[in-house]
Amino acid sequence: MILAIESSCDDSAISITDIKTKKLLFHKKISQELEHSVYGGVVPELAARLHAEALPKILEECEPYFKDLKAVAVTSTPGLAVTLVEGVTMAKAIAVALDIPIIGVNHLIGHIYSLFIEKETQFPLTCLLVSGGHTQVMEVTSLTEIETVAKSMDDSFGESFDKVAKMMGLGYPGGPVIEKLALNGDRLAHNFTVPLHQSPLIAFSYSGLKNAVRLAVLEEEKKEKPDFSDIAASFEHIATKHLTMKLKKYLKTIKPTTFAIVGGASANLYLRGQIQELLKPHNAELILSELKYCSDNAAMIGRVAIEMYEKKLFSRLEDLDISPRSNL
Ligand code: KG4
Ligand code: ZN
Repeated sequence: MILAIESSCDDSAISITDIKTKKLLFHKKISQELEHSVYGGVVPELAARLHAEALPKILEECEPYFKDLKAVAVTSTPGLAVTLVEGVTMAKAIAVALDIPIIGVNHLIGHIYSLFIEKETQFPLTCLLVSGGHTQVMEVTSLTEIETVAKSMDDSFGESFDKVAKMMGLGYPGGPVIEKLALNGDRLAHNFTVPLHQSPLIAFSYSGLKNAVRLAVLEEEKKEKPDFSDIAASFEHIATKHLTMKLKKYLKTIKPTTFAIVGGASANLYLRGQIQELLKPHNAELILSELKYCSDNAAMIGRVAIEMYEKKLFSRLEDLDISPRSNL
């Protein structure tokens, strides 16, 4: 079995997976959303302190599995430096105590493998990652052959939902609240400009849209009874249209048989529907993670670790370091 730890942002999670059957035997996650909500975003130092409390509590529950562990895996990149350190330190302690190898996992590859928890992999695939930290399109051929073909030049898709929710005083994370609010709004009420719509670049940008939304929010706040539902709906519509317009352009150059959406924001039903529509003429199958594994979790880290264990992709204890930025 492999024990995997995730602490790259505001979720403390540990999983146990069976190497041979790929079955997830144990998974527990303690989220810190409530603690960060008052600040409208994740406060790194607070997150690190909460990991230091939560991870040992979850680890205690894993004790019955200790004798069967063949390796310990941990997210080592990308993420918040101070929170990654919490997981990596714990993983190193376990590796030394149990005398087992350590595996450093890239969180973005974890999101890709969230598609295959307890399942066989299905490659090649074109994968859209939409999370709080990343918005990128990757061509995935295997564990070690992943090419990023488009990425955001500034904010990420999920982050833009978080920032818009913060402007409206709706707390953190913004994705689910904005999606819910948008259901009562008119998607065409605000004519926000689609980012980079005149640019031939296949890339993403959310900072301009965020600023346009800020102006609309300020206008709405002048009213006696502000109602942000039209702004939320129009924002979600344009944020999604930006993705689908760029993907449409990209799909002219490549014909995937399988297309995946992963990451926390892949839970967004409007986005899922729009991408499904986009894929129709291309006959590409859309695959998604189970809703509970879209956001950060340790099950996906454990799933990657199985593949890395089989390929003996271990790290030397003294070499495994955290890296806030991913090389993908
Ligand atoms: O993958 P994730 O849990 O963490 C990172 O790796 O960043 O993604 C979290 C992000 C947050 O920005 C959150 O607002 C966004 O995913 N998110 C959503 C939805 N649910 C979560 N964004 C849009 N619509 C949603 N339903
Ligand atoms: Zn993530």
